[in-house]
Amino acid sequence: MHDAAIQAATAQIRRTEEGSAPAPVVCTFFDEATNTASHVVHCPVTKQAAVIDSVLDYDAAAGRTSHGSAQAIVDYVEREGLTVEWQLETHAHADHLSAAPWLQEKIGGKLGIGADIIRVQNVFGKIFNAGTRFARDGSQFDHLFTDGETFRIGELPVTVLHVPGHTPADMAFVIGNAAFVGDTIFMPDFGTARADFPGGDPRPLFRSIRRLLSLPVETRLFLCHDYKAPGRDEYAWLTTVGHERAYNIHVHDGVGEDEFVEMRTARDATLAMPRLLMPSVQVNMRGGHLPEPEADGVSYIKIPVNRL
Ligand SMILES: [Fe+2]
Repeated sequence: MHDAAIQAATAQIRRTEEGSAPAPVVCTFFDEATNTASHVVHCPVTKQAAVIDSVLDYDAAAGRTSHGSAQAIVDYVEREGLTVEWQLETHAHADHLSAAPWLQEKIGGKLGIGADIIRVQNVFGKIFNAGTRFARDGSQFDHLFTDGETFRIGELPVTVLHVPGHTPADMAFVIGNAAFVGDTIFMPDFGTARADFPGGDPRPLFRSIRRLLSLPVETRLFLCHDYKAPGRDEYAWLTTVGHERAYNIHVHDGVGEDEFVEMRTARDATLAMPRLLMPSVQVNMRGGHLPEPEADGVSYIKIPVNRL
């Protein structure tokens, strides 16, 4: 099968492995409250950087945001002397709020997400009856990525892959020889992302994962979440294509699409909605901004009753 984007990513990974492109430096920040791994990746030559999937802390009971997790990223960026070019989102998350706008104010960076965010905005705009003032055209973001797009962070080559299934808009960012795969695949002992949110679908998820697993076996995969797993007491967010192909409990080599869809559908039926789904989706579909304040100057998060 000819897949130009995968070929471009593969060539880029090989160039990095050979040493003709610099190797990306990655620092991960793990938020235990939402099981989210945020990554800061930078070019060791130019110190230009991208922040991937940042977390805004949110106390749901009090309806209060805070910035401890995001401040840790600011501190790291300042300590390392990095210039942030991008705030990247692998997708509109349903389990944590994005800190991208707050981080943009502190350390800069253009906000980028997949072009199919427009589909996600349409689905959730309806579910939350967001009204005509909520633009469903992706205009809350600085850039909308499409499959196969390439760019650079300093001297690091980047190839963007569209990997739908968990949501319609999921993107993976292959930066040098590291792939930031968002919610597609998790650690081998935990398996894969759920595909039952509105707009999710296990069939494209399987194809997206197999596409990622067609990258060179040595490719490092940086994950967006970890939940530990039976017999494992430490959080983990880094694995390789080779390890996933050999050991992933849901999608190791040999598992077929129908078998996966049946497993994923049955498992998803047992999962509760994420604790922060309501605030996360309403904020993240707006590029991490709170809903427009009402007449009293306060932003409100809605809960559609008996809708999800
Ligand atoms: Fe997600």
